[in-house]
Amino acid sequence: MTRRAVARGIGHYLPDRIVPNSHFEGLIDTTDEWIRTRSGIERRHFAAEGQTTSDLATRAAEAALAHAGLTAQDIDGIIIATSTPDLTFPSVGTMVQHALGMTRGFAFDVQAVCAGFIYALCNANALIVAGQADRLLVIGAETFSRIMDWEDRSTCVLFGDGAGALILEAREDAEDRGILATDLNSDGRYRDMLYVDGGVSTTGTSGKLRMQGNPLFRQAVDKLASTAVTALERAGLSGADVDWVVPHQANIRIIAGTAKKLGLPMDRVILTVQDHGNTSAASIPLALSIGVADGRITTGDLILSEAIGGGLAWGAVVMRW
Ligand code: UT7
Repeated sequence: MTRRAVARGIGHYLPDRIVPNSHFEGLIDTTDEWIRTRSGIERRHFAAEGQTTSDLATRAAEAALAHAGLTAQDIDGIIIATSTPDLTFPSVGTMVQHALGMTRGFAFDVQAVCAGFIYALCNANALIVAGQADRLLVIGAETFSRIMDWEDRSTCVLFGDGAGALILEAREDAEDRGILATDLNSDGRYRDMLYVDGGVSTTGTSGKLRMQGNPLFRQAVDKLASTAVTALERAGLSGADVDWVVPHQANIRIIAGTAKKLGLPMDRVILTVQDHGNTSAASIPLALSIGVADGRITTGDLILSEAIGGGLAWGAVVMRW
């Protein structure tokens, strides 16, 4: 029998404050129309003052536990994908572990920027398949509003805050459910396309996000389509088998361009970019949670997720819900 990591529960949390595109008109030289047509974004959520990434992650984890009918005592470990931790250390994972009242198991963070949730899922899958854990909480949580340069119109209108959490469980009898294939890539030659201009061992500050949007856009569609095809081929599947694409939500034109390359219509894509903006590592679990909550994603559906972000780092996961 094959041991697989199967989804057991999903949940998300978005901060209360919703900021429409019109908020930026007058503050910087931009328009609602430019933001909508270039990125697909209409609004985003921003964390309240004092609200941290671990706060968002904990709320998402609680929602996932409730959805799964489990308590934190049933969880063996937590993996959190984030590039906006509360502190340089300890990990957001251990903060969430404590907030949930867990005193056993392990927790750690994964840092692969917008591809972080794909990297975290691959790690969780490997730990479960190897028999190191039976049940893991895999979380993407970000407060990108904290690293925005509010005078840089090319970036500050694009990002938002939020968190999503997925519980993966080991199953020996899963047949073809669970994570079926993964693909990870990175290439540090592209460092300058998306980075934060500060850090512990350089400036001693947390820094602000810098992005060469257009060159990154051109890299994104090719790399996302190619990692998606690799993951599908490893699973012995093709685009025609996919029920739902749950992509990283950076830009509707990147999502549409990638879907087109894969031969998939947009009505098979779960889209949240219009409501959340780019929430980096949180965007895939947020979209998954929303697709499950509104009844589109159901047991047995084949899901393809892909993401690219700073590094560059990119990858894809194929899983059957
Ligand atoms: O999640 C990690 C991965 N991130 C991504 O993959 C993001 C990738 N990039 C993108 O999504 C897009 O490149 C953007 C949405 C960032 C920009 O869209 P674009 O079609 O690539 O536009 P552009 O950067 O080529 O800029 C076009 C024009 C420029 O003006 P000029 O030089 O043509 O006069 C910009 O200065 O739009 C200008 N512009 C703006 N105008 C109004 C840039 N930002 C704004 C703005 N409002 N907020």
